[in-house]
Amino acid sequence: MASVPSLASSVDQRVADALASALPEAGAADPLLRRSDRADFQANGILALAKKAKANPRELAATVVDAIASGDLIREIEVSGPGFLNITVSDRAIIETLAARAADDRLGVPLAEHPGTTVIDYAQPNVAKEMHVGHLRSAVIGAAMVEILEFTGEKVVRRHHIGDWGTQFGMLIQYLLEHPHELDHKADGEVSGEEAMSNLNRLYKASRALFDSDEEFKTRARARVVDLQAGEPETLALWQRFVDESKIYFYSVFDKLDMDIQDPDVVGESGYNDMLVETCKLLEDSGVAVRSNGALCVFFDDVKGPDGNPTPLIVQKSDGGFGYAATDLSAIRDRVGNLHATTLLYVVDARQSLHFKMVFETARRAGWLNDGVKAVQLAFGTVLGKDGKPFKTREGETVRLVDLLDEAIDRAAAVVREKAQDLSEAEIGERAVQVGIGAVKYADLSTSAARDYKFDLDQMVSLTGDTSVYLQYAYARIQSILRKAGDARPAAHPELALAPAERALGLHLDHFGDLLAEAAADHAPHKLAAYLYQVASLYTTFYSECPVLKAETPEQVANRLFLCDLTARTLTKGMSLLGIRTPEKL
Ligand code: ARG
Repeated sequence: MASVPSLASSVDQRVADALASALPEAGAADPLLRRSDRADFQANGILALAKKAKANPRELAATVVDAIASGDLIREIEVSGPGFLNITVSDRAIIETLAARAADDRLGVPLAEHPGTTVIDYAQPNVAKEMHVGHLRSAVIGAAMVEILEFTGEKVVRRHHIGDWGTQFGMLIQYLLEHPHELDHKADGEVSGEEAMSNLNRLYKASRALFDSDEEFKTRARARVVDLQAGEPETLALWQRFVDESKIYFYSVFDKLDMDIQDPDVVGESGYNDMLVETCKLLEDSGVAVRSNGALCVFFDDVKGPDGNPTPLIVQKSDGGFGYAATDLSAIRDRVGNLHATTLLYVVDARQSLHFKMVFETARRAGWLNDGVKAVQLAFGTVLGKDGKPFKTREGETVRLVDLLDEAIDRAAAVVREKAQDLSEAEIGERAVQVGIGAVKYADLSTSAARDYKFDLDQMVSLTGDTSVYLQYAYARIQSILRKAGDARPAAHPELALAPAERALGLHLDHFGDLLAEAAADHAPHKLAAYLYQVASLYTTFYSECPVLKAETPEQVANRLFLCDLTARTLTKGMSLLGIRTPEKL
């Protein structure tokens, strides 16, 4: 395992050294290097430095140019504009750097120097309820963040904060107690996720109907809530059956999503029950929370209701019950105190942003969050239908996630079948799943999470444009070229002159590690998606401008095969971090 500095960082270092020798009294300076259309890179930092040192920026730039002898790394460097530097790296440096990447399993991507521990709260559906597209977003974005962070060396602890507690269980449990065989499973067989959910739906509807029509049942259901909260064993055992039945369903959906969710990581709201009383006591004793009309509340200057009165975070209701906030505050104590998190990341709908703002601020006041631990909500927007309105069926009901995924797979099957040349029916079926699920994930990951996005299956499985299918085809096409290469093997030839399309592709491949570090630090998987799309686009240009197997010399064939191979490896690695498969043939 050898990490390879990117060309950008090598150039940056060169310019920084030259600046330091030109103006030793100014101290360390940042060359502010960016990608540029005019050259490979442009350094813009000289202006600020010249200002600070009261020097002429163009003169300073010229001194830097002289100090940087062009050589193996830099082919050309020139002063431009008011004192920018345009820098072009050599063909040799590109291929040599890429060759070092190719020799490493991690493509030369360095591990973080000071990795922390991120506890990530994602994929958190609710017990006895159908999953919806919001749960899809949390799962898909969260899973991508887990992979990206782990790849950069961060320690990641997954937490699926499922909604498994609350007063609604009184009604369900009471109903099950009175209709004890409703959740029985056939002695022989396993229950499918679909069956589990339909059992839960049936029970929910029946108990709701009774609750609304039968006063005595309502009273019994309310008493059951008290038993549940008191931890009465029989009540708890029935509650557990709802949780177990729901998990059968959740896992079936995660499985369909090709996502690995582990049971020990499912720590739902109920997992913090033992901490709630203490959390309240700590908040009250420290004065962070105060009693107001019997409820335990935390107030904020900047959070007010429409009437201008402050809206508090309610930690304990006046009837003594604990809610969502008490659980989340207890979870923070657990994640910081026991799991030693340095970052708490919550992949949760933007509509819960106020809740998290208040919870984080409360935890800060209580000292549970401090400079050593940051809490971030990776807030995502709403999934809209093709018409731009919140996603609903024609009948106005929320769309079942499973139906949506099945439809995506169907559409993908049509696309795969149309293109399939030498694929069997079984292979088409397998690819359809990889393409369909990939399409759904990619559509979610390719726009910045905060934005709403339109769930448009036609667009998602389109072969052109910014879709996962386009990326998957690019990958499969490369594999087919590599198969056709016969005796010719990919091999780097740094002595060759590169065509512009080769340079553009090569420089972008080299950027992979820097990009990943940025996507990890910004919690922005969409940056990785955009990067990969760019890889595929640059590859398409390369492929149309530079013959690979018919290149002029055997060395050039080998070098282009080498670029093909590294492109494929970068694509498949990046896609796998996003949770998307790259079939070898498509
Ligand atoms: N179960 C919640 C929902 O479906 C999401 C939980 C988010 N995580 C948290 N720690 N509150 O909306």
